[in-house]
Amino acid sequence: MVVCAARDLAGEGATAIDLFSGTGSTSVALACSFAVTSVDVQEYSRVMCSALIEEGSPIVDDRVFLDRWASFKEGLLCRYGRLVSYEQGILGSPDENAGELSSIIEHGCLLAMDGMASPELSGLMRESLVTPLPDGLTDTIVRYYGGTYFSYLQAVELSAACSAARTFDGWQRDRYLASVICAASHCGSTVGGQFAQPLRTVDRRGLVKTKTIRKATACRAKSVSRATMSALEEIDALRKPGPHNTAIRAECREWLREQKPRADVIYADPPYSRYHYSRYYHVLETIARGDSPDITPNPATGRPSRGMYRAGRYQSPFSTRGGASGAFEELFVGCSASAPALVLSYSPYPSDRPSTPRMITIDDLTALAKQSYRHVDVVKVDDITHSKLTKKESFLETSETAELMILCRN
Ligand SMILES: C[S@@+](CC[C@H](N)C(=O)[O-])C[C@H]1O[C@@H](n2cnc3c(N)ncnc32)[C@H](O)[C@@H]1O
Repeated sequence: MVVCAARDLAGEGATAIDLFSGTGSTSVALACSFAVTSVDVQEYSRVMCSALIEEGSPIVDDRVFLDRWASFKEGLLCRYGRLVSYEQGILGSPDENAGELSSIIEHGCLLAMDGMASPELSGLMRESLVTPLPDGLTDTIVRYYGGTYFSYLQAVELSAACSAARTFDGWQRDRYLASVICAASHCGSTVGGQFAQPLRTVDRRGLVKTKTIRKATACRAKSVSRATMSALEEIDALRKPGPHNTAIRAECREWLREQKPRADVIYADPPYSRYHYSRYYHVLETIARGDSPDITPNPATGRPSRGMYRAGRYQSPFSTRGGASGAFEELFVGCSASAPALVLSYSPYPSDRPSTPRMITIDDLTALAKQSYRHVDVVKVDDITHSKLTKKESFLETSETAELMILCRN
């Protein structure tokens, strides 16, 4: 649908920009017809888009990656082996050990060490942290997210896979990191498949929630290596590489202003609710960046926040009431200077969900668009399908969302 609209507006044109490129599914679709530049403020998006649209040939077989991954995993298990075995034992009979699994999810974060874990778990956590980490290994994913969002075993495997991916350069690295990002999204013990908040395993009365423990057990049974290999296959099957395709991490208005790019058509899919994407995808961002970020503190305790959110994570003006109007005005000015046509996706106000109000009305949006474009049409797209990097088997699967497209031409 988006691609048809872009093709109609671009005429014979051959270049497109996908602003706010997210998981890269629209970039891939556009890459069937255009040379595509994908832009998003998040590094995880750049990695996904690079894997999906940039040129590069997959290594004939992935054995080198797998061998390095296995050796990094072995190294990490020197430090975390006993903690991993302890949790795997619990997961063998979760109904009998619901309290222990709850303690791992609620208090098992090695970075936070809130002192409230069960005595056995606390002892093993302390023991792990005083065991030296073999040279050259990084364990950020284990220390930050193990226990809370992943089983310790999954976290060790993800950490080792990230290190193995980082032994490669350029597009090869992005392809491996993208597969690890997909695996993390698939295997996480989370609410709704993204990382906005960890599972709550205890109710208001202090009782362990059996249903949540079952859900966590099912998530923890997922194999990171299987998920990574199937993501690699999916990426290789889906990708649409082109010599002029490129993926960029940048704030879109700044990028338009500073780079002054030229294209035949721009597709823009900005955020429309007050929920910041950086809160949903912070774990994936850490995987993509390979850093060890500061964590926002819980204001009440001063300790790391329960969700382990990255400090200084990006707050988009498109997701704030005060910022949206000015941000859209600048976006329209920048887009109209760079391409004669713009397809903008926006979701109208959902009357059934007053908790997720839009930051700007469609009327205000079209009025702003008309300041920069001569022709502005609003098209209703019923049941347009949108990709999400969450849930179920596939990393690029769809959900039904009523949506509008605003078509702008100079
Ligand atoms: C609605 S999602 C895009 C979804 C995407 N079309 C897909 O198929 O996955 C919005 C995206 O905008 C990005 N974003 C938010 N504010 C931004 C800004 N100022 N500049 C660039 N990207 C931004 C977010 O990181 C997020 O990936």
